Amino acid sequence: MQFQVKTGAASQQRTACAIVPVFSGGDLPSAASSLDKAGGGLISRAIRNKDIKGELGDMLLLTHTGELPCQRILLVGLGPKAKLDRRAWRKAVRTALATVARGKYGDAILHLTSEPVGDADAYRRARLAVEIWHDVSYRFTTMKSEPGDTAPALKELGIAAAGRDVRGARRGIEHGAAIAHAVALAKDLGNLPPNVCTPSYLVERARGIAKRASTLTVKALGLAEIRKLRMGAFLAVTQGSAEPPRFIVLQYRGGRTGAPPVVLVGKGITFDSGGISIKPAGAMDEMKYDMCGAATVLGVLQAVAELKLPINVTGVVPTCENLPSGTATRPSDIVKTMSGQTVEILNTDAEGRLILCDAITYALRFKPAALIDIATLTGACLVALGRVRSGLLGNSDKLADDLLAAGQAADDRAWRLPLDDDYAELIKSPFADVANVGGRDAGTITAASFLARFVGKTDWAHLDIAGTAWNQGSNKGGTGRPIPLLMEYLLHRK
Ligand code: BES
Ligand code: MN
Ligand code: ZN
Repeated sequence: MQFQVKTGAASQQRTACAIVPVFSGGDLPSAASSLDKAGGGLISRAIRNKDIKGELGDMLLLTHTGELPCQRILLVGLGPKAKLDRRAWRKAVRTALATVARGKYGDAILHLTSEPVGDADAYRRARLAVEIWHDVSYRFTTMKSEPGDTAPALKELGIAAAGRDVRGARRGIEHGAAIAHAVALAKDLGNLPPNVCTPSYLVERARGIAKRASTLTVKALGLAEIRKLRMGAFLAVTQGSAEPPRFIVLQYRGGRTGAPPVVLVGKGITFDSGGISIKPAGAMDEMKYDMCGAATVLGVLQAVAELKLPINVTGVVPTCENLPSGTATRPSDIVKTMSGQTVEILNTDAEGRLILCDAITYALRFKPAALIDIATLTGACLVALGRVRSGLLGNSDKLADDLLAAGQAADDRAWRLPLDDDYAELIKSPFADVANVGGRDAGTITAASFLARFVGKTDWAHLDIAGTAWNQGSNKGGTGRPIPLLMEYLLHRK
């Protein structure tokens, strides 16, 4: 797919489809007015005839475009001009691009990107448009024997911009494309079934990413090395499964040699049955997406390398299955973590924190400038925040604020939950240093409180993406979140 900045009057541009915004209430945005004048009033006539009102999300396709150099005009309603904000703009762009993705033509020009929107400048509008295009045109067909012809015919999308905004729009396209490719990778990994997307498969994909950039190196530890590191908690999770575990380390070096890296740790449970504390059968199929933290880390490392960011970033991915069997961990087993702390495993379904605590201990070796873990960690996070915002917890106000702001800017929002020391009381164990679960109360916080014990003083944030990594319903599948949030954060780090 090609994206190209287009400047100049809409009426001069040759294209199979001009995607043109209109407001409700009469005002014509500049692209609409340019085409209207050159086209003998065809747009104002459509509005006068009430063929389109211009309400948010309204659409009308004009195919009789006379002498105009565009074969079609897709009018898209933005709602009232005074109410145009980023949310409304996004919705209009999404609706229009989803329609274009089903069209049979090869090129189009999106004029919504040249329309001023409150807090989204030309850079942001171009970047979002590219991300939205990839989102609506994403198809997951690799597991079908007959993929069909659902792939969009569109090969080139023009991004309209004012002359003074060309540089910003170009940058937006570049960033948007790298982020969108990473998001598509993470969606694929989330959607693949767990008999394909195994820990060794994630290693293969990590190697594939590293092959494309000399700045990326990959290391994948196996069972023997994981044992040697004494990762007793990680080993307790994998021991019920016949599928070998892996511990993946991806290093991107784009910054000064020796500059402390941002370290990203991603939960890579390729299937979470719950183990002996087995989950109900109901939606157990969805637990193939319990590796979306890992997918996020692979995606971010790929995008960071593609954009050649001037920083060091390290990705750490502990990955295995959580299954019941004769060799599986029993509720009440006590294990020794790599840090030396002992854990009483009261519930084998709280396995994410067990693989993460050893991964965090390992990650401290890199003396991180910031440590961020990403995990589909708790159902409680879905109860608290639904699928709208990711849960954010941590020990650093500065890091938390930076991540919240990044999520806001990238339209991939998070919400911070508290992490007072008092919550640690809930996971006390009479038999070991700590238990892996508390009671029903504050499930997302007690999970983070467990992780905090292994972090120490390093600046750390935890993103619980149990709700945001996956869509249900007609749009069922991986979302690629929180890649846009993390990329926004890394793009602004020096
Ligand atoms: N992977 C799940 C969390 C999850 C639930 C992710 C729903 C996405 C959707 C995690 O391993 C888990 O099972 N957590 C338990 C913790 C509990 C036993 C303390 C949970 O949330 O029920
Ligand atoms: Mn679980
Ligand atoms: Zn899990």
